[in-house]
Amino acid sequence: MSARVAVLLSGRGSNFLNLHAAMERGEVPGTIALVISNVAEAPGLARARQLGLPALALPYGESPTREAHDSRMRAAIAAAGAEWVCLAGYMRLLTPGFVAACGQRVLNIHPSLLPSFPGLHAQRQALAAGVRVSGCTVHFVDAGLDSGPIVAQRAVPVLDSDDEDSLAARILEAEHAAYPAALARLLAGGWWIAGRRVHFPGPGA
Ligand code: GAR
Repeated sequence: MSARVAVLLSGRGSNFLNLHAAMERGEVPGTIALVISNVAEAPGLARARQLGLPALALPYGESPTREAHDSRMRAAIAAAGAEWVCLAGYMRLLTPGFVAACGQRVLNIHPSLLPSFPGLHAQRQALAAGVRVSGCTVHFVDAGLDSGPIVAQRAVPVLDSDDEDSLAARILEAEHAAYPAALARLLAGGWWIAGRRVHFPGPGA
């Protein structure tokens, strides 16, 4: 069964493009049903249009409240028939109402090994803390900041020579491997969440 996935993004959109490519190659059993951005001029949104994918700009300023914005978003996602929502560089917190309505079907990717370094500038935070390993996390979205149950993590080394850009580039490579793999694993089904732990079927999982 192929899942219909909505992607929310605010910028470049490399994680969106990478998910789309993985779907096209048959590595993730899904299709991109809709791309939504809160930033009308986001390059990711332009790429979605070039690819002929349904793409929608929903700037925050057009809605009186965050709740009103997120209900517009929810209506568009429902109209597109999307069952899953993947945040890909979506730099706004979702409202509790949105998260509750979508249930355990909203994923995010974050450029750190959560729960370390949530929020903005995760790579800068990692460098400032002097950690020797960082990476990325795919997690379910709850109403908190980068705080839902963890689906997958990949680690990368932090080198003495790193600046924010070089670390971000190394982490991004890990993101591009982790996100499609995590989504494919969830779409295969059979998983459950106990406490904060996401359990997968199969030995050693
Ligand atoms: C990615 O590094 C993603 O992990 C990060 O924004 C970047 C988006 O890049 N997301 C967050 O920091 C969310 N808290 P992209 O637009 O090329 O996918």
